[in-house]
Amino acid sequence: MKSRHKHIRCFDDAESVSVAAAAYFLEAAAAAIADKGRFSVALSGGSTPRRVFELLAAPECRDRLDWGKIDFFWGDERSVAPEHADSNYRMAVTAMLNPLGIDSERIHRMPAEREDREQAAIEYADEIRNAIEDHRFGKAVPQIDLIMLGMGADGHTASLFPFTAALTETHRLVVPNYVEKLATWRMTMTAPLINQGRRILFLVAGSDKAAVLREVLEGPEDYARLPSQMIKPAHGDLVWLIDASAAAALRDRVCS
Ligand code: 6PG
Repeated sequence: MKSRHKHIRCFDDAESVSVAAAAYFLEAAAAAIADKGRFSVALSGGSTPRRVFELLAAPECRDRLDWGKIDFFWGDERSVAPEHADSNYRMAVTAMLNPLGIDSERIHRMPAEREDREQAAIEYADEIRNAIEDHRFGKAVPQIDLIMLGMGADGHTASLFPFTAALTETHRLVVPNYVEKLATWRMTMTAPLINQGRRILFLVAGSDKAAVLREVLEGPEDYARLPSQMIKPAHGDLVWLIDASAAAALRDRVCS
């Protein structure tokens, strides 16, 4: 399946990637709110997103959106309590959602710390369906307006790690995923859900990502080893924002 539109944009440094990502978020949210009165976004963990969230909560961005019309989800989460330092939820709450005063009803935390993890994943998928409501119009899989993703130096995205069970999922929207090399459970949106996103935004910065980014973007398909390659939106736009050190090994002049 080919993405309708794929754009790769390169920037001097991680700060410029974050600024561009904040601008992209604002534009996507404003367009969706103008069009249908709502906007849904799946957030990711990581250091680049943290800076994006801080920028969005700063006065220059804050006043440009009706934040009450936005539903916040997470693409993945670690199996820790919401107040834990490793929690993706906590990071976003601290950097953006609390400073913006977002109503808790709009914040859809992924409950990855629950021991009944299969049930927790089912309930989270239901929460997405209920908040997005596209299924009422005959769509089997809800379409999230914007899905923010990072890529690990091993090629993982969200918590779709190489050679893990979640990669083979073809129906469920959210699954618990055991990651052997980290000896831990994660919870993650699956490729079938992510690929229905209206817009998908990858943020990649740092020289430790350079070799794998070349393989992901320019190498042969190897989904089990390079799960980021599985992200190919069925209808939406796919945008990669990359800093110069992550782009350093690319052979093709892909930066537009
Ligand atoms: C997580 C993330 C994960 C992340 C990548 C890249 O919970 O760890 O959601 O998929 O996006 O590991 O993270 P960095 O951008 O910080 O390198």
